[in-house]
Amino acid sequence: MGLAVCLLVSVLWIRAFEEAGCCGSELDLLTRELMESAKETEFFEWMKGIRRRIHQYPELGFEEHMTSQLIRTELDSLGVGYKWPVAKTGVVASIGSGSKPVFALRADMDALPMQELVEWEYKSKIDGKMHACGHDSHVAMLLGAAKLLQGKRDAIKGTVKLVFQPGEEGYAGAYHMLQDGALDDIDAILTIHVLPTIPTGVITSRPGTLLAGVGLFSATIQGKGGHAASPHVTRDPILAAAFAILALQQIVSRETDPLVASVVTIGYINGGQAGNVIPESLKLGGTYRSLSPEGLYFLQRRIKEIIEHQAAVHGCNAVVDMMNDTPFPHPVMVNDEAVYEHLKRVGSVLLGETNVQLMTISMGSEDFSYFSEKTAAVIFGIGIGNKTLKSDQQLHSPYFFIDEEVLPIGAALHAAASISYLQDI
Ligand SMILES: *[C@@H]1O[C@H](CO)[C@@H](O)[C@H](O)[C@H]1NC(C)=O
Ligand SMILES: [Zn+2]
Ligand SMILES: [Zn+2]
Repeated sequence: MGLAVCLLVSVLWIRAFEEAGCCGSELDLLTRELMESAKETEFFEWMKGIRRRIHQYPELGFEEHMTSQLIRTELDSLGVGYKWPVAKTGVVASIGSGSKPVFALRADMDALPMQELVEWEYKSKIDGKMHACGHDSHVAMLLGAAKLLQGKRDAIKGTVKLVFQPGEEGYAGAYHMLQDGALDDIDAILTIHVLPTIPTGVITSRPGTLLAGVGLFSATIQGKGGHAASPHVTRDPILAAAFAILALQQIVSRETDPLVASVVTIGYINGGQAGNVIPESLKLGGTYRSLSPEGLYFLQRRIKEIIEHQAAVHGCNAVVDMMNDTPFPHPVMVNDEAVYEHLKRVGSVLLGETNVQLMTISMGSEDFSYFSEKTAAVIFGIGIGNKTLKSDQQLHSPYFFIDEEVLPIGAALHAAASISYLQDI
Protein backbone atom coordinates (compact mmCIF):
# COMPACT_ATOMS: atom_id res chain seq x y z
CA MET A 1 0.00 0.00 0.00
CA GLY A 2 2.73 2.38 1.09
CA LEU A 3 4.73 1.42 -1.96
CA ALA A 4 1.74 1.87 -4.26
CA VAL A 5 1.06 5.35 -2.93
CA CYS A 6 4.71 6.20 -3.25
CA LEU A 7 4.80 4.94 -6.84
CA LEU A 8 1.67 6.85 -7.70
CA VAL A 9 3.10 10.02 -6.22
CA SER A 10 6.32 9.67 -8.15
CA VAL A 11 4.46 8.94 -11.40
CA LEU A 12 2.38 12.06 -10.87
CA TRP A 13 5.47 14.03 -10.00
CA ILE A 14 7.30 12.86 -13.14
CA ARG A 15 4.27 13.71 -15.24
CA ALA A 16 4.00 17.16 -13.72
CA PHE A 17 7.70 17.64 -14.33
CA GLU A 18 7.42 16.56 -17.97
CA GLU A 19 4.48 18.81 -18.62
CA ALA A 20 6.24 21.82 -17.17
CA GLY A 21 9.41 20.27 -18.67
CA CYS A 22 12.46 21.96 -20.06
CA CYS A 23 11.00 23.13 -23.35
CA GLY A 24 7.50 23.83 -22.15
CA SER A 25 8.64 26.34 -19.56
CA GLU A 26 11.22 27.80 -21.92
CA LEU A 27 8.51 28.44 -24.48
CA ASP A 28 6.32 29.78 -21.72
CA LEU A 29 8.98 32.27 -20.73
CA LEU A 30 9.75 33.28 -24.32
CA THR A 31 6.11 33.88 -25.30
CA ARG A 32 5.36 35.80 -22.10
CA GLU A 33 8.37 38.02 -22.61
CA LEU A 34 7.51 38.71 -26.26
CA MET A 35 3.86 39.45 -25.48
CA GLU A 36 4.80 41.80 -22.64
CA SER A 37 7.24 43.70 -24.87
CA ALA A 38 4.68 44.04 -27.66
CA LYS A 39 2.05 45.31 -25.22
CA GLU A 40 4.28 48.02 -23.73
CA THR A 41 2.69 51.39 -24.42
CA GLU A 42 5.45 52.73 -26.64
CA PHE A 43 5.70 49.53 -28.69
CA PHE A 44 1.91 49.26 -29.07
CA GLU A 45 1.54 52.92 -30.08
CA TRP A 46 4.31 52.51 -32.65
CA MET A 47 2.48 49.55 -34.25
CA LYS A 48 -0.86 51.38 -34.21
CA GLY A 49 0.81 54.37 -35.87
CA ILE A 50 2.15 52.17 -38.69
CA ARG A 51 -1.20 50.51 -39.20
CA ARG A 52 -3.08 53.82 -39.26
CA ARG A 53 -0.68 55.49 -41.71
CA ILE A 54 -1.06 52.55 -44.09
CA HIS A 55 -4.82 52.56 -43.55
CA GLN A 56 -5.05 56.24 -44.50
CA TYR A 57 -3.10 55.74 -47.73
CA PRO A 58 -4.26 52.40 -49.16
CA GLU A 59 -2.57 51.16 -52.35
CA LEU A 60 -3.79 48.48 -54.78
CA GLY A 61 -1.88 45.39 -55.93
CA PHE A 62 1.62 46.07 -57.30
CA GLU A 63 1.18 49.77 -56.57
CA GLU A 64 2.25 49.55 -52.89
CA HIS A 65 5.08 52.07 -53.32
CA MET A 66 4.43 54.18 -50.22
CA THR A 67 3.67 51.13 -48.09
CA SER A 68 6.89 49.50 -49.27
CA GLN A 69 8.83 52.70 -48.54
CA LEU A 70 7.33 52.88 -45.04
CA ILE A 71 8.36 49.26 -44.39
CA ARG A 72 11.92 49.91 -45.55
CA THR A 73 12.19 53.06 -43.45
CA GLU A 74 11.09 51.16 -40.34
CA LEU A 75 13.46 48.24 -41.11
CA ASP A 76 16.30 50.75 -41.57
CA SER A 77 15.66 52.31 -38.19
CA LEU A 78 15.52 48.85 -36.58
CA GLY A 79 18.83 47.99 -38.26
CA VAL A 80 17.30 45.04 -40.13
CA GLY A 81 18.74 44.22 -43.57
CA TYR A 82 16.49 43.42 -46.52
CA LYS A 83 16.28 42.71 -50.22
CA TRP A 84 14.18 45.05 -52.38
CA PRO A 85 12.49 45.14 -54.81
CA VAL A 86 11.21 41.59 -54.92
CA ALA A 87 8.26 41.44 -57.35
CA LYS A 88 8.13 45.22 -57.88
CA THR A 89 7.17 46.50 -54.41
CA GLY A 90 7.91 43.45 -52.24
CA VAL A 91 10.53 43.39 -49.47
CA VAL A 92 12.31 40.37 -47.94
CA ALA A 93 14.06 41.16 -44.66
CA SER A 94 16.36 38.75 -42.78
CA ILE A 95 17.17 38.48 -39.09
CA GLY A 96 19.60 35.96 -37.61
CA SER A 97 22.68 34.09 -38.84
CA GLY A 98 21.84 34.41 -42.54
CA SER A 99 22.12 30.64 -43.00
CA LYS A 100 19.71 27.71 -42.79
CA PRO A 101 17.38 26.68 -41.32
CA VAL A 102 15.11 29.51 -42.49
CA PHE A 103 11.66 30.18 -41.10
CA ALA A 104 9.64 32.79 -43.00
CA LEU A 105 6.80 35.05 -41.92
CA ARG A 106 4.59 36.67 -44.56
CA ALA A 107 2.38 39.75 -44.62
CA ASP A 108 0.45 40.98 -47.65
CA MET A 109 0.35 44.73 -48.33
CA ASP A 110 -2.41 45.62 -50.81
CA ALA A 111 -5.79 47.28 -50.37
CA LEU A 112 -9.07 46.93 -52.30
CA PRO A 113 -10.75 49.17 -54.90
CA MET A 114 -13.71 50.16 -52.70
CA GLN A 115 -14.93 53.13 -50.69
CA GLU A 116 -14.52 53.04 -46.91
CA LEU A 117 -17.79 53.84 -45.13
CA VAL A 118 -16.45 53.84 -41.55
CA GLU A 119 -16.28 57.38 -40.16
CA TRP A 120 -13.24 57.50 -37.90
CA GLU A 121 -10.13 59.57 -37.37
CA TYR A 122 -7.88 57.42 -39.56
CA LYS A 123 -10.33 56.75 -42.41
CA SER A 124 -8.87 56.15 -45.87
CA LYS A 125 -7.85 59.45 -47.48
CA ILE A 126 -7.96 57.92 -50.94
CA ASP A 127 -11.44 57.84 -52.47
CA GLY A 128 -12.35 54.43 -53.81
CA LYS A 129 -9.51 52.58 -52.05
CA MET A 130 -9.68 50.86 -48.69
CA HIS A 131 -7.84 48.37 -46.52
CA ALA A 132 -10.94 46.23 -46.08
CA CYS A 133 -9.06 42.94 -45.76
CA GLY A 134 -6.79 44.02 -42.90
CA HIS A 135 -3.52 43.87 -44.82
CA ASP A 136 -2.55 47.17 -43.14
CA SER A 137 -2.62 45.34 -39.80
CA HIS A 138 -0.68 42.40 -41.28
CA VAL A 139 2.17 44.76 -42.18
CA ALA A 140 2.09 46.38 -38.72
CA MET A 141 2.16 42.98 -37.00
CA LEU A 142 5.08 41.80 -39.13
CA LEU A 143 7.05 44.98 -38.42
CA GLY A 144 6.22 44.42 -34.74
CA ALA A 145 7.69 40.93 -35.11
CA ALA A 146 10.77 42.43 -36.77
CA LYS A 147 11.32 44.64 -33.73
CA LEU A 148 10.83 41.72 -31.30
CA LEU A 149 13.10 39.43 -33.32
CA GLN A 150 15.81 42.06 -33.73
CA GLY A 151 15.87 42.39 -29.93
CA LYS A 152 16.37 38.62 -29.68
CA ARG A 153 18.60 38.11 -32.72
CA ASP A 154 21.30 36.32 -30.70
CA ALA A 155 18.77 33.65 -29.68
CA ILE A 156 17.81 32.88 -33.31
CA LYS A 157 19.32 29.55 -34.41
CA GLY A 158 19.24 30.17 -38.13
CA THR A 159 17.37 32.86 -40.01
CA VAL A 160 13.93 34.42 -39.91
CA LYS A 161 12.84 35.96 -43.22
CA LEU A 162 10.13 38.59 -43.19
CA VAL A 163 8.19 38.57 -46.44
CA PHE A 164 6.23 41.71 -47.32
CA GLN A 165 4.19 40.66 -50.34
CA PRO A 166 2.38 42.80 -52.93
CA GLY A 167 -0.83 42.02 -54.77
CA GLU A 168 -2.71 39.35 -52.80
CA GLU A 169 -6.16 40.49 -53.98
CA GLY A 170 -6.25 38.76 -57.36
CA TYR A 171 -2.73 39.56 -58.62
CA ALA A 172 -0.95 36.35 -57.53
CA GLY A 173 1.68 38.42 -55.71
CA ALA A 174 2.86 35.31 -53.84
CA TYR A 175 3.59 33.57 -57.15
CA HIS A 176 5.58 36.54 -58.40
CA MET A 177 7.62 36.78 -55.19
CA LEU A 178 8.51 33.10 -55.50
CA GLN A 179 9.92 33.80 -58.99
CA ASP A 180 12.70 35.68 -57.17
CA GLY A 181 15.54 33.62 -55.66
CA ALA A 182 15.16 35.44 -52.32
CA LEU A 183 12.84 32.73 -51.02
CA ASP A 184 14.51 29.59 -52.41
CA ASP A 185 16.05 28.66 -49.05
CA ILE A 186 12.98 28.77 -46.78
CA ASP A 187 12.19 25.61 -44.77
CA ALA A 188 8.78 26.69 -43.51
CA ILE A 189 6.51 29.73 -43.70
CA LEU A 190 3.66 31.17 -41.64
CA THR A 191 1.11 33.82 -42.44
CA ILE A 192 -1.65 35.14 -40.23
CA HIS A 193 -4.86 36.76 -41.47
CA VAL A 194 -7.21 38.82 -39.34
CA LEU A 195 -10.69 37.32 -38.97
CA PRO A 196 -13.76 39.25 -37.75
CA THR A 197 -15.70 36.03 -37.13
CA ILE A 198 -13.71 35.09 -34.01
CA PRO A 199 -13.02 37.27 -30.96
CA THR A 200 -9.77 39.10 -30.34
CA GLY A 201 -7.42 36.81 -28.46
CA VAL A 202 -8.47 33.70 -30.38
CA ILE A 203 -6.63 32.08 -33.29
CA THR A 204 -7.86 29.37 -35.62
CA SER A 205 -6.68 26.99 -38.30
CA ARG A 206 -6.63 23.30 -39.19
CA PRO A 207 -4.10 20.78 -40.50
CA GLY A 208 -4.25 19.76 -44.16
CA THR A 209 -6.62 21.26 -46.74
CA LEU A 210 -7.98 24.59 -45.54
CA LEU A 211 -8.93 26.77 -48.51
CA ALA A 212 -10.01 26.19 -52.08
CA GLY A 213 -7.92 26.59 -55.18
CA VAL A 214 -9.41 29.44 -57.20
CA GLY A 215 -9.65 30.68 -60.74
CA LEU A 216 -11.17 33.76 -62.32
CA PHE A 217 -12.37 34.04 -65.90
CA SER A 218 -14.05 36.44 -68.27
CA ALA A 219 -15.71 35.85 -71.63
CA THR A 220 -16.84 38.00 -74.53
CA ILE A 221 -19.72 36.65 -76.55
CA GLN A 222 -19.79 38.19 -79.99
CA GLY A 223 -23.10 38.13 -81.90
CA LYS A 224 -24.65 40.29 -84.59
CA GLY A 225 -26.62 43.29 -83.38
CA GLY A 226 -29.78 44.71 -84.89
CA HIS A 227 -33.40 45.71 -84.44
CA ALA A 228 -35.22 43.83 -81.69
CA ALA A 229 -38.21 43.48 -84.05
CA SER A 230 -36.15 41.38 -86.48
CA PRO A 231 -34.30 38.80 -84.34
CA HIS A 232 -34.02 36.47 -87.34
CA VAL A 233 -31.44 38.71 -89.00
CA THR A 234 -29.35 39.05 -85.82
CA ARG A 235 -27.31 36.67 -83.66
CA ASP A 236 -28.42 37.37 -80.11
CA PRO A 237 -25.49 37.26 -77.61
CA ILE A 238 -27.88 37.76 -74.67
CA LEU A 239 -29.70 34.51 -75.39
CA ALA A 240 -26.37 32.74 -75.91
CA ALA A 241 -25.12 34.06 -72.55
CA ALA A 242 -28.33 32.98 -70.81
CA PHE A 243 -27.95 29.41 -72.12
CA ALA A 244 -24.24 29.40 -71.27
CA ILE A 245 -24.87 30.55 -67.70
CA LEU A 246 -27.51 27.88 -67.15
CA ALA A 247 -25.33 25.19 -68.71
CA LEU A 248 -22.45 26.18 -66.41
CA GLN A 249 -24.60 25.25 -63.42
CA GLN A 250 -24.60 21.62 -64.53
CA ILE A 251 -20.83 21.22 -64.13
CA VAL A 252 -20.99 21.05 -60.35
CA SER A 253 -24.31 19.20 -60.20
CA ARG A 254 -23.57 16.56 -62.88
CA GLU A 255 -19.85 16.37 -63.63
CA THR A 256 -17.89 16.75 -60.39
CA ASP A 257 -17.47 14.32 -57.50
CA PRO A 258 -20.09 15.34 -54.90
CA LEU A 259 -17.58 14.52 -52.16
CA VAL A 260 -15.08 17.07 -53.47
CA ALA A 261 -16.52 20.55 -53.03
CA SER A 262 -16.51 22.87 -56.03
CA VAL A 263 -18.11 26.17 -56.95
CA VAL A 264 -18.85 27.93 -60.22
CA THR A 265 -20.21 31.47 -59.86
CA ILE A 266 -20.94 34.06 -62.53
CA GLY A 267 -20.23 37.37 -60.85
CA TYR A 268 -21.12 39.83 -63.58
CA ILE A 269 -22.80 40.18 -66.94
CA ASN A 270 -22.58 43.36 -68.96
CA GLY A 271 -24.49 43.73 -72.19
CA GLY A 272 -27.16 45.67 -74.00
CA GLN A 273 -28.37 49.24 -73.68
CA ALA A 274 -31.92 49.51 -74.96
CA GLY A 275 -35.02 47.35 -74.80
CA ASN A 276 -35.52 47.45 -78.55
CA VAL A 277 -31.96 46.66 -79.60
CA ILE A 278 -30.17 43.32 -79.82
CA PRO A 279 -26.58 44.14 -78.88
CA GLU A 280 -23.51 43.25 -80.88
CA SER A 281 -21.72 41.58 -77.96
CA LEU A 282 -21.60 41.17 -74.19
CA LYS A 283 -19.17 40.31 -71.43
CA LEU A 284 -19.56 38.02 -68.46
CA GLY A 285 -17.20 36.65 -65.88
CA GLY A 286 -16.88 34.74 -62.66
CA THR A 287 -14.93 32.43 -60.44
CA TYR A 288 -14.46 28.69 -60.00
CA ARG A 289 -13.14 26.91 -56.95
CA SER A 290 -12.29 23.37 -55.92
CA LEU A 291 -10.70 21.53 -53.02
CA SER A 292 -8.72 19.30 -55.37
CA PRO A 293 -6.11 20.25 -57.98
CA GLU A 294 -7.67 17.85 -60.51
CA GLY A 295 -11.08 19.39 -59.85
CA LEU A 296 -9.67 22.84 -60.45
CA TYR A 297 -8.23 21.96 -63.86
CA PHE A 298 -11.41 20.12 -64.81
CA LEU A 299 -13.54 23.19 -64.02
CA GLN A 300 -11.16 25.40 -65.96
CA ARG A 301 -11.41 23.22 -69.07
CA ARG A 302 -15.19 22.71 -68.92
CA ILE A 303 -16.07 26.38 -68.33
CA LYS A 304 -14.19 27.37 -71.46
CA GLU A 305 -15.74 24.56 -73.55
CA ILE A 306 -19.27 25.20 -72.36
CA ILE A 307 -19.22 28.94 -73.01
CA GLU A 308 -17.66 28.46 -76.45
CA HIS A 309 -20.07 25.70 -77.45
CA GLN A 310 -23.19 27.42 -76.11
CA ALA A 311 -22.21 30.54 -78.04
CA ALA A 312 -21.82 28.42 -81.18
CA VAL A 313 -25.27 26.85 -80.70
CA HIS A 314 -26.71 30.36 -80.98
CA GLY A 315 -24.59 31.41 -83.94
CA CYS A 316 -22.31 33.55 -81.80
CA ASN A 317 -18.62 33.39 -81.09
CA ALA A 318 -17.08 33.36 -77.60
CA VAL A 319 -13.58 34.29 -76.54
CA VAL A 320 -12.90 32.99 -73.02
CA ASP A 321 -10.01 34.35 -70.98
CA MET A 322 -8.99 31.98 -68.16
CA MET A 323 -6.38 34.54 -66.97
CA ASN A 324 -3.52 32.08 -67.14
CA ASP A 325 -1.01 34.93 -67.19
CA THR A 326 -1.89 36.21 -63.68
CA PRO A 327 -1.54 33.21 -63.11
CA PHE A 328 -4.84 31.50 -62.37
CA PRO A 329 -5.89 29.11 -60.96
CA HIS A 330 -4.19 29.55 -57.58
CA PRO A 331 -3.47 26.19 -55.91
CA VAL A 332 -5.51 24.63 -53.11
CA MET A 333 -4.25 25.85 -49.70
CA VAL A 334 -2.91 22.89 -47.71
CA ASN A 335 -1.53 23.49 -44.21
CA ASP A 336 1.57 21.49 -43.35
CA GLU A 337 0.67 19.25 -40.40
CA ALA A 338 3.95 19.59 -38.48
CA VAL A 339 4.08 23.39 -38.76
CA TYR A 340 0.38 23.52 -37.85
CA GLU A 341 1.08 21.46 -34.69
CA HIS A 342 3.97 23.75 -33.83
CA LEU A 343 1.76 26.84 -34.16
CA LYS A 344 -0.97 25.19 -32.14
CA ARG A 345 1.51 24.57 -29.33
CA VAL A 346 2.92 28.11 -29.43
CA GLY A 347 -0.58 29.59 -29.68
CA SER A 348 -1.78 27.54 -26.70
CA VAL A 349 1.07 28.80 -24.55
CA LEU A 350 0.60 32.38 -25.75
CA LEU A 351 -3.20 32.58 -25.56
CA GLY A 352 -4.41 29.53 -23.64
CA GLU A 353 -5.48 26.20 -25.09
CA THR A 354 -9.16 27.10 -25.46
CA ASN A 355 -8.22 30.12 -27.56
CA VAL A 356 -6.71 27.98 -30.31
CA GLN A 357 -9.69 26.74 -32.29
CA LEU A 358 -10.17 24.30 -35.15
CA MET A 359 -11.21 26.15 -38.30
CA THR A 360 -13.71 24.73 -40.77
CA ILE A 361 -12.64 24.26 -44.38
CA SER A 362 -13.92 27.06 -46.60
CA MET A 363 -14.16 27.82 -50.31
CA GLY A 364 -12.36 31.11 -49.72
CA SER A 365 -8.85 31.36 -51.13
CA GLU A 366 -5.44 32.91 -50.55
CA ASP A 367 -2.55 33.28 -52.96
CA PHE A 368 -0.38 32.15 -50.01
CA SER A 369 -1.21 28.68 -51.40
CA TYR A 370 1.67 29.21 -53.86
CA PHE A 371 3.97 29.02 -50.82
CA SER A 372 2.26 25.85 -49.64
CA GLU A 373 3.02 24.27 -53.03
CA LYS A 374 6.71 25.01 -52.59
CA THR A 375 7.41 24.52 -48.88
CA ALA A 376 5.90 23.62 -45.50
CA ALA A 377 3.37 26.42 -45.04
CA VAL A 378 0.66 27.25 -42.59
CA ILE A 379 -1.99 29.96 -42.43
CA PHE A 380 -3.66 30.99 -39.18
CA GLY A 381 -6.70 33.18 -38.70
CA ILE A 382 -6.33 35.69 -35.86
CA GLY A 383 -9.43 37.12 -34.22
CA ILE A 384 -10.39 40.80 -34.31
CA GLY A 385 -14.09 40.41 -33.50
CA ASN A 386 -15.51 42.75 -30.83
CA LYS A 387 -19.16 43.84 -31.11
CA THR A 388 -18.61 46.96 -28.99
CA LEU A 389 -16.00 48.21 -31.45
CA LYS A 390 -18.03 46.98 -34.47
CA SER A 391 -14.95 45.03 -35.53
CA ASP A 392 -17.11 42.03 -36.37
CA GLN A 393 -17.90 43.24 -39.91
CA GLN A 394 -17.02 40.89 -42.79
CA LEU A 395 -13.74 41.03 -44.64
CA HIS A 396 -14.20 43.18 -47.80
CA SER A 397 -17.15 45.04 -46.24
CA PRO A 398 -17.03 48.87 -46.57
CA TYR A 399 -17.68 48.84 -42.80
CA PHE A 400 -14.73 46.53 -42.06
CA PHE A 401 -12.97 47.69 -38.88
CA ILE A 402 -10.04 46.32 -36.91
CA ASP A 403 -9.69 45.84 -33.17
CA GLU A 404 -6.11 47.08 -32.85
CA GLU A 405 -5.65 44.93 -29.71
CA VAL A 406 -4.75 42.24 -32.26
CA LEU A 407 -1.48 43.97 -33.16
CA PRO A 408 0.67 42.91 -30.17
CA ILE A 409 -0.87 39.42 -30.24
CA GLY A 410 0.04 38.93 -33.90
CA ALA A 411 3.54 40.34 -33.46
CA ALA A 412 4.24 38.08 -30.48
CA LEU A 413 2.77 35.02 -32.26
CA HIS A 414 4.99 35.62 -35.31
CA ALA A 415 8.11 36.09 -33.19
CA ALA A 416 7.48 33.22 -30.77
CA ALA A 417 6.58 30.80 -33.56
CA SER A 418 9.72 31.53 -35.56
CA ILE A 419 12.24 31.55 -32.68
CA SER A 420 10.91 28.32 -31.17
CA TYR A 421 10.59 26.59 -34.55
CA LEU A 422 14.26 27.23 -35.27
CA GLN A 423 15.25 26.04 -31.78
CA ASP A 424 13.30 22.80 -32.14
CA ILE A 425 14.35 21.83 -35.64
C1 LIG B 1 -14.19 45.07 -26.72
O1 LIG B 1 -13.81 46.43 -26.78
C2 LIG B 1 -14.19 47.18 -25.66
C3 LIG B 1 -13.84 48.63 -25.96
O2 LIG B 1 -12.47 48.78 -26.25
C4 LIG B 1 -13.50 46.64 -24.41
O3 LIG B 1 -13.87 47.38 -23.27
C5 LIG B 1 -13.87 45.18 -24.23
O4 LIG B 1 -13.14 44.61 -23.18
C6 LIG B 1 -13.60 44.40 -25.51
N1 LIG B 1 -14.14 43.07 -25.39
C7 LIG B 1 -13.42 41.98 -25.52
C8 LIG B 1 -14.14 40.68 -25.36
O5 LIG B 1 -12.23 42.00 -25.78
ZN1 LIG C 1 -6.69 39.31 -47.15
ZN1 LIG D 1 -9.11 39.98 -49.18
